[in-house]
Amino acid sequence: MSKTTDNLQAAFAGESQANRKYLFFSEKADAAGKKQVARLFRAAAEAETVHARNHLKVLGQIKTERENLEAAIGGENYEFTQMYPAFIEQAKKESNKPADDSFDLANKVEQIHHKLFQAALGDLQAGKTAKDAPYYVCQVCGNTVEGVAPDRCPICGSPKSKFKRVD
Ligand SMILES: [Fe+2]
Ligand SMILES: [Fe+2]
Repeated sequence: MSKTTDNLQAAFAGESQANRKYLFFSEKADAAGKKQVARLFRAAAEAETVHARNHLKVLGQIKTERENLEAAIGGENYEFTQMYPAFIEQAKKESNKPADDSFDLANKVEQIHHKLFQAALGDLQAGKTAKDAPYYVCQVCGNTVEGVAPDRCPICGSPKSKFKRVD
């Protein structure tokens, strides 16, 4: 990898993080009644998304549907087989319960994402027509469910009202 390829990866990571941070900062500003600051954070977040997309395009990492599903499967698999188990172990060693809990919820949901992506790839390879159904995402743990929201989140126990519909 050239130095510029490394730099593109670093810039993509940084812009992606800035996007999420600014969106969370905008939520905070909105909650405090700071409408214009909230807007500014949302606008800057939007711009960071443009930068992130540009960098990823130059890296050539937005590929065919099959390749993108494979990349997602690989990423999710890495997270729940290697990254989160190691992070959870370390958090336990350091008695950092909030970090342990946060990693644990993500770890459980990455396994669900892995299954969903695998099923989508399976359908694609079998030439099956994809379903036409919304997804529901638990706003407490990220649990991702196809079709209908459950009465209670099987991962974190939150009620149905905590699920956000994604079309
Ligand atoms: Fe995931
Ligand atoms: Fe949940």
